[in-house]
Amino acid sequence: MANWDKIYRDYKKGGQAWATLSGEIIPEFKLVLRQEKFKFKRAFDIGCGTGNYLAYLVSNGFQVAGTDSSPTAVKMARALFDKKTGRAIKVANMFKLRIPKNKYDLIMSIAAIHHGMKKDVARLVGKIYTALVPGGKAFITFPDLVSSQHWDTFKTNKDLGNGTFSPLSGPEKGLPHSFFTKEEIAKMFAKFRMVKMQLDKRGRWVVRAVKQDSRDSRNKYKQEYV
Ligand SMILES: C[S@@+](CC[C@H](N)C(=O)[O-])C[C@H]1O[C@@H](n2cnc3c(N)ncnc32)[C@H](O)[C@@H]1O
Repeated sequence: MANWDKIYRDYKKGGQAWATLSGEIIPEFKLVLRQEKFKFKRAFDIGCGTGNYLAYLVSNGFQVAGTDSSPTAVKMARALFDKKTGRAIKVANMFKLRIPKNKYDLIMSIAAIHHGMKKDVARLVGKIYTALVPGGKAFITFPDLVSSQHWDTFKTNKDLGNGTFSPLSGPEKGLPHSFFTKEEIAKMFAKFRMVKMQLDKRGRWVVRAVKQDSRDSRNKYKQEYV
């Protein structure tokens, strides 16, 4: 989106390290890489920004692919890797993505997937399910509807209805942002198993979920919340 490309261009010119440009890897993600097993170690990052999570994955032995709508961010991300890996990082609108079926054993999206209307976000979660191998894992963050009321950026906003707002000022002005309840997230992840949702201190739901494996037991569609 044009707003985000401008954020990255300004940053390159010495501007503010807006949002996640600080390069932090959230502790919940580090924990997943330490605790979980990944058979193929093939990961896809949706809204990968400048590629800090991709670099972290590569340093943990993953083969990676990523996408972001900002050409500037994708260029910065590609610069971190060799040509082959760089070619797997592409400029695209995540809501129009075609993701190959049964390919990845980790698909993640951090502080990114909510930049759109809820119906598009839900459709993308469905595509993520299809793109995971059986037993593959999703790791996605969603801003919480209640906590969003305390976000500075949203002090003045246009209410687009149903928990979607667009800020009237700041670098993300005019860009729809969707905020979710726990129940809405549970609904989007109904096909997954082992759905774990944790509200972090920034007011984001950190969601981990596993794609159904044909070897799972009969109560396979049961969700588990933590
Ligand atoms: C807050 S940043 C997070 C970047 C990265 N995931 C991280 O945590 O470091 C949000 C990212 O989502 C990207 N983004 C926003 N809307 C998008 C869309 N429709 N398609 C693809 N990327 C998008 C932005 O360009 C930006 O890089």
